[in-house]
Formats: sequence, C-alpha cells, structure tokens
Amino acid sequence: MKLNKKLLITIDGPAGAGKTTVSKMLAKRLGYNYIDTGALYRGIAYEARQKNITASDDNNLKKICENINLEFVNVGEEQHLFSNNKDIEPFIRTEEISMLASAVSAKPFVRKALLKLQRNLGSKKCAVFEGRDMGTVIFPNADIKFFLQASIEERAERRYKQLPNASERGLKDIKNRIIKRDKNDSERKLAPLKPAEDAIIIDSTEMRAEQVAELMIASIFR
Ligand code: DC
Repeated sequence: MKLNKKLLITIDGPAGAGKTTVSKMLAKRLGYNYIDTGALYRGIAYEARQKNITASDDNNLKKICENINLEFVNVGEEQHLFSNNKDIEPFIRTEEISMLASAVSAKPFVRKALLKLQRNLGSKKCAVFEGRDMGTVIFPNADIKFFLQASIEERAERRYKQLPNASERGLKDIKNRIIKRDKNDSERKLAPLKPAEDAIIIDSTEMRAEQVAELMIASIFR
C-alpha cells in the first residue's frame, strides 16, 4: 500500500505509553521522518545541568534558550540530538534529565524557543512527530493525530525494563517519578498534555507495539 498524499502525523501521550517505539515503527513503515520532540526539551535540560542551572533560575535558562542550537543528525541507523555541534544523545535519557526536562518544559520561554524549530521540521510533512502537545499546539492542522495511553502499572513496568540502572532504582521509584512527571506535564498552564479534540485515542496497556502500529496504519489508510 502506498499513500497518495504527504501526511503529517502526531503521536502524543504520557511517559512510557510506548510512543517512541510505535512512532519509529510507523515512520519506518511509511518511509517518513521520525521526530522525537521530547529530546529537544531534554537538550535544554542537559545544557542547564552542565552549567549547574536549576529549573527555578529563569534568567540563566533564558540565556540557554537564546544561544542553543539543537539539531537531529543521522548517526548510522539512529537519529541523535546534537547541541551546539556536540552529540548529546548518550546523556539525555537519564531519569535526572527526564525530571529536569519536564520542569523546564512548563516555562513559556522554553516552549516558545522550540516552537519554530518544530514547525520548520514539519514544514515538508512526511513525518511522524512524537510529544505532548503535537496535536494540540504545534500542529493543530496535522493530518492524523493519535493519543497513546496505558495504565500507570504497565508504563512503569516498561520503563523499568528499558532503564539500564532500573534495579538500583526499583519499580516503585520509577512509578513515582512517572506519576510526578505526568502531573507536571498535564497540569501546567501552557500546552498541557491532553488529547486533541480530533485525536484517535489508543490504550496500549494490553497491546504489543506491533499491534498498536497496525491499528494506526489501518486508521491512516482508511
Ligand atoms: O517524551 P519525553 O519523555 O522524552 O519528554 C521529556 C519531557 O519533555 C516531558 O516530561 C515533557 C516535555 N515535553 C513537552 O513538554 N512537550 C513535548 N512535545 C515533548 C516533551
């Protein structure tokens, strides 16, 4: 099956719902670009952490936003985030950066700094964008919007299996951090995590990633 139209597809949802795995599958299947917008917030958090800047230090965070140059670069089969020409991909997936990314993402000037970059990346369509506000704020006119969710137990289990030092942290700690991040992300004033009115909502608690991707493909070709 081939698409006769260039599409922009958005996948929003909470941490651990399986967005990354499914977005990559979908992008590969359609020959589309995959854009992980959470990485951009992680990039700002990483630069702040490097300079010992805390989430409450708006002045210095603003300076980071003014000077940062984030881009996605293909490294082998993978897409890495580069910040000011440095590959920071290996450092941005830790729990510490997850929490800091969530905290800085609530700031209006941070979201504003990343808005144009995201829209530019989507200007040619043929892309799957993963995030929290893709269908609501960044691309309200996206061709197809999905909202992926799963129970908190399932999401914590998935994260536990993914994290290299998971056993040190323990399942309970990982679950609590997800709950905290969900709360930050969905209760913030600006661009809170929520499904767009026209999003297709999928609960992946009892589904494998392949099944979710199939369901999405079926909606796309319908
Ligand atoms: O998708 P992720 O876990 O890598 O995202 C990290 C944090 O970045 C997330 O907790 C909230 C923020 N984020 C956001 O506010 N908007 C997005 N579109 C993507 C991520």
